[in-house]
Amino acid sequence: MSTEIKNLENIQNVTYGLKKLFDSAEDFLPLLGTDYVELYVGNAKQSAHFYKTAFGFQSEAYAGLETGMKDRVSYVLKQDKIRLVLTSPMEEGGELNEHINKHGDGVKVVALWVDDATKAWEETTKRGAKSYFEPRVEKDDNGEVVRSGIHTYGETVHIFVERKNYNGVFLPGYRKWESHYNPEPVGLRYIDHMVGNVDWGEMDKWCEFYDKVLGFAQIVSFDDNDISTDFTALMSKVMSNGNGRIKFPINEPADGKKKSQIEEYIDYYNGPGVQHIAVATDNIVETVTAMRDRGVEFLYVPENYYDDLLERVGKIDESVEVLKKHGILIDRDEEGYLLQLFTKPVVDRPTMFFEIIQRKGAMSFGKGNFKALFEAIEREQENRGTL
Ligand code: FE2
Repeated sequence: MSTEIKNLENIQNVTYGLKKLFDSAEDFLPLLGTDYVELYVGNAKQSAHFYKTAFGFQSEAYAGLETGMKDRVSYVLKQDKIRLVLTSPMEEGGELNEHINKHGDGVKVVALWVDDATKAWEETTKRGAKSYFEPRVEKDDNGEVVRSGIHTYGETVHIFVERKNYNGVFLPGYRKWESHYNPEPVGLRYIDHMVGNVDWGEMDKWCEFYDKVLGFAQIVSFDDNDISTDFTALMSKVMSNGNGRIKFPINEPADGKKKSQIEEYIDYYNGPGVQHIAVATDNIVETVTAMRDRGVEFLYVPENYYDDLLERVGKIDESVEVLKKHGILIDRDEEGYLLQLFTKPVVDRPTMFFEIIQRKGAMSFGKGNFKALFEAIEREQENRGTL
């Protein structure tokens, strides 16, 4: 398909998506934002240290033996609007150990902040969502929280969190985590989008799930003509909720000459799961400089990426030399441009990573960078012998 037709199709998709959202008399699942992201990890204490040191997260809350939680321990970290929860099992067997054994460290919960967690559960299960747990009220001296949960792709779940009657530090059962070690934040502000990798041929099924069950609309699509190198290929569609605060791109592998990076993820994660968490900053150069200094490894961008940059993206505020020094990628769409950079996987298996993104008007996802990015990932796959 030609680029022009493709662009037109994307504009039509965006228009359709927005129209659908404005037309619906009532958004049956109003989402206020991402409440928290919970990872099941092998050693929560040490993971928490990593996210504080390397990513600039702040100590927020804790639950474990000392707070009466017997079977698990959780550390809650915060940076501006982003909340990460790191959870490890304290006993043998059970859901947590099975999850870690099968997937390695990875995202279990993408929690969504709502006004009414009971209604969110009723509306979504009525439309076909599989329940993870029914609405339940959790209380302590600081008030009450209502939570409910549904399953999504793989073993990932969404938990709806209603906290309007709560003023504690995180959830009932947690206490403030006071720490002597408080490294500076690096300027991460909020979750821009979270990407799911699903199995061969399953992208449309999961897009339909977000459409029918959660009332999302598709805003962008890429196919393997947009996103393929000599070796790797994938297809991707972006689903967004009504107010645009929650965006979930869904990827599936496509046939390439060799193993696609999505397939590599699925092999090592043993199924579908969260591939990357994109976090927004207001100053990507400062953020990336700080993260690199603190030990975060980013994908290497070939120097020749910058050779024809200005012809490709037009006038930008930043110096090309500075962007080149930090390996920051740039892409432009009809509304503006964006700067982005991807970490290497942050866990042992070649699975989950982070994206750092700064938007300057652009509402897209860096399609123009996919090829350069994938070539960079393929170099890493080559080193791992998994290409
Ligand atoms: Fe992304």
